[in-house]
Amino acid sequence: MRSNVNAVVGIQWGDEGKGRIVDYLAQDAEIVIRFQGGDNAGHTVINEMGRFGLHILPSGIFNSETMNIVSAGTVVNFDTMLKEMKDIRERCGLELDNVFIDERAHLIMPYHCLLDGAEEGKRDESQKIGTTKRGVGPCYTDKAARIGIRACDLLDEDRLEKRLSMLLPKKNRDLEYYGLRTFTLKELMDKCRSWRLEFANHIIDTVPVVRDAVESGKKVLLEGQLGIMRDNDWGIYPYTTSSNPTVAGACNGAGIPAKAINRVCGVMKAYSTSVGGGPYMTELFDKDGEKLRQIGGEFGVTTGRPRRCGWLDLVAADYACYMNGVMDIALTKLDVLDTFKTIKVCTGYNIEGEYYSYLPETRLQEKAKPIYEEFEGWMCPTSGARRWEDLPDKAQKYILAIEKALGTRVTYISVGPERDQLIVR
Ligand code: GDP
Ligand code: IMO
Ligand code: MG
Repeated sequence: MRSNVNAVVGIQWGDEGKGRIVDYLAQDAEIVIRFQGGDNAGHTVINEMGRFGLHILPSGIFNSETMNIVSAGTVVNFDTMLKEMKDIRERCGLELDNVFIDERAHLIMPYHCLLDGAEEGKRDESQKIGTTKRGVGPCYTDKAARIGIRACDLLDEDRLEKRLSMLLPKKNRDLEYYGLRTFTLKELMDKCRSWRLEFANHIIDTVPVVRDAVESGKKVLLEGQLGIMRDNDWGIYPYTTSSNPTVAGACNGAGIPAKAINRVCGVMKAYSTSVGGGPYMTELFDKDGEKLRQIGGEFGVTTGRPRRCGWLDLVAADYACYMNGVMDIALTKLDVLDTFKTIKVCTGYNIEGEYYSYLPETRLQEKAKPIYEEFEGWMCPTSGARRWEDLPDKAQKYILAIEKALGTRVTYISVGPERDQLIVR
């Protein structure tokens, strides 16, 4: 197989800058595939068409030659997708007839969104996941329980009615338990009919086209949502999302054999952020944390929440590189560190007096104190750099140290949010 498939995955807690890297790499891609997650994503893309916060649409939509697939592993809210498409059509005149949804993708139904908020509301403070309340968790729950509604169900009214009639009493019982409004069969059938009218032409079986692209060596990009630290198996469970943002999740969610993956690009900030609950060892509660938040503009794209900010955690990054088989690191937001006199990176943890050089399970992460190595800051602007040689020595030293610690090449360095503010080594 002469495949040309590149997976782009988040190797921290999300918001690493995946959108901007996919937008850059998609300029000559045949297909871009969002392989898991739903509209909980907030992928920022800034290019000649404007500034966009994409939630469910793949970040390859700005190249009209690129086919964009929302694949079987995702969960789709057609109301928010429609809104997102309308907004983009109005703002930059793109037709978006290059967007397709695999018929196997599960649908986020109105009751999923209500239940997401209610379930989170019932958790006590220490157990809160801080979900985006987009219905993602409840939708994946129904998928696993085999009572989900899929995109293909919209295309067959009888089948849809049978499935909705089967699951509705259970959903209404759950909603009543939380004191929420219930739904009638007619209401949901009407909602699904309206979705069918809008999306029937976009719902396809993506297997033949993806297989053909993979087998004939066309450039395919797999776009991850979130980062491995919120992976449902390998992240900080239970403060995770309900899918797998890893390369393994990409193979599964996009329907691509593991042997077809040629390159894996792990996107990582030059520091770190996390949105939502759970352990986060390098979190800063001091003025450096606030400075990272302000300079980095660290506020959620989907929820507007201030992001928790901290130094780069190389122990977690090493785990992420191993789990994903990362070959290229895209180091983003280097410019945000331009005015820090001292920059720290975590190289190990102290957990109840014991030294850990590797990332343990959540329970121990909650007790972990970071051990830091310090670097001298470069104290000059980097946002104009376009070549490795343009970077100050101290910034080069910082990047080379990261490379050495992770045993992985830093191939892309971004020094600003715009498409061209990128150094490719
Ligand atoms: P994603 O969810 O992984 O796509 O990342 P987000 O879009 O949620 O968060 C990344 C944020 O950083 C966005 O506001 C981007 O515009 C911005 N950004 C990306 N790369 C850079 C960079 O190199 N420098 C700066 N200053 N901002 C960047
Ligand atoms: P992108 O794609 C950062 C976090 C939430 C919460 C947990 C579960 O922009 O990186 P969910 O709504 O998925 O059930 O929430 O995951 N979370 C994100 N954090 N960026 C995101 O997306 C996120 N999507 C979910 O804060 O802790
Ligand atoms: Mg984001």
